[in-house]
Amino acid sequence: MAKDYIQTDITSVQQSVEQANGLANAHYIDPAVFAEESEAVLKATWAGLAVGADVPNPGDAKPIQFLGMPLLLIRDKDGDLRVFENICRHRGMQLVHEAKTIEGAIRCPYHSWCYSTKGKLVSTPHVGGAGHNTHPSIVKDDLGLNEVRSYVWRDVVFINISGDAPDFTEVHADLIARWSEFDCSLYHGGADSRFELELTANYKLAVENYCESYHLPWVHPGLNSYSRLEDHYNIVEYGKFSGQGTLVYRQFKAEDGSAAFPDFPNLSEKWNEG
Ligand code: FES
Repeated sequence: MAKDYIQTDITSVQQSVEQANGLANAHYIDPAVFAEESEAVLKATWAGLAVGADVPNPGDAKPIQFLGMPLLLIRDKDGDLRVFENICRHRGMQLVHEAKTIEGAIRCPYHSWCYSTKGKLVSTPHVGGAGHNTHPSIVKDDLGLNEVRSYVWRDVVFINISGDAPDFTEVHADLIARWSEFDCSLYHGGADSRFELELTANYKLAVENYCESYHLPWVHPGLNSYSRLEDHYNIVEYGKFSGQGTLVYRQFKAEDGSAAFPDFPNLSEKWNEG
């Protein structure tokens, strides 16, 4: 089968769920398809990058690789979340190599150009020669860090690499409306409840797996004893979003037997467990 066909024809995938096929194998293993998909899906629209809880205090900064791009998540001195290219505007040195709290300014380790937590270039030592910290060709206002368009929803930091996607609130208006009563972070966070999964697979496999409970009886028999296959329901808005809900939220227990998740405040009756 010609590669062009594999990459572009997803007609059979876009049928009703009763008729549709899954994506062709190439969408999970072919680097060329991944590159194409990265541009069309992950860079041209809004992609989740991190959570605000990663940088809880002003000055906190965390370097993150996203599709091979070095990015810097930072909470600026006024408490606002920002995402920058983690690249110095002088010679392209990576600015921050590990999560840290920025004291004062972001200092490039190469020639010590310094940037504020809002990305503004504030100092360029010796750039005009020894002892001369300015140069007519170096216009600081033009050389701030490149900022990546971002939007924080429910403490999840979304980014739009291309910079020209419609506003997040426009693209995801239905999603935002669906969750409008949950007026708090989606991420419960905290050192005790945090875990990270490193996945050696195409990201779609994780998403697809999460959106179905069919595998629970066999893969997670323990979980299935109190959060059964039949306790789940599908959330599907074709072309907009999909996911999975549970009817037994309160059944989830921490290891000490206490309730694992708190109730969300002020929810209407429709969100009560069925
Ligand atoms: S590369 Fe950053 S100051 Fe030179």
